[in-house]
Amino acid sequence: MKFFVDTADLQEIRDLAATGLLDGVTTNPSLVAKAGRNFLELVAEICQVVDGPVSAEVAATDFPTMLAEGQKLAAISPRIAVKVPLTPAGLKVCKHLSANGTMVNVTLCFSAAQAILAAKAGAAFVSPFVGRLDDVGTDGMALIADICQIYSRYPSFTTEVLVASVRHPMHLVAAAKLGAHVATMPPSVIRLLFGHPLTDKGLAQFVADWQKTGQAILS
Ligand code: G3P
Repeated sequence: MKFFVDTADLQEIRDLAATGLLDGVTTNPSLVAKAGRNFLELVAEICQVVDGPVSAEVAATDFPTMLAEGQKLAAISPRIAVKVPLTPAGLKVCKHLSANGTMVNVTLCFSAAQAILAAKAGAAFVSPFVGRLDDVGTDGMALIADICQIYSRYPSFTTEVLVASVRHPMHLVAAAKLGAHVATMPPSVIRLLFGHPLTDKGLAQFVADWQKTGQAILS
């Protein structure tokens, strides 16, 4: 399973890339606004830090402008996955860009029917938002189960399920159990994955006991 970080904060991306566990980055207009940086410059810098797909979202909603924006973003780096909304125009852009070898991430997916459309449009990734579905009283993870099942029935569908709007570690674990290809998580959630109180307690004991031996491995 691939781990992407869902942020436009370059320092966070650098820190997490240093763990060697990061496979890519996703951004969206809200995250870019929060970063307060020039979008094109920021995306180019992210592509230099991470050796994997970097999702950069178009801003327009009409087909010709979205296509032109997508082409401009794709020219930044072959690592760019152009992010388009799951609308008729967005899927049309997806079809055009994918046919020319550009990775496309179809975002704002909230139903299995939409995910089928994204696969048919040749998307490299589809992004179902599990947290936002949970927020409105719907089972976000049930959507991931449906999409994974449907895609597995059609070998011609090469679209990867990129679980987005991940809010806590159990979203990640549930998505992994279902075989989702990718999860994109905020830095805070990725850091939570590492922690367990028994790990901390056990390590403190081992460190204390090792000191009692009076030995040093490196001397
Ligand atoms: O980047 C898309 C998605 O991950 C947003 O998550 O927490 O704003 O619903 P959230």
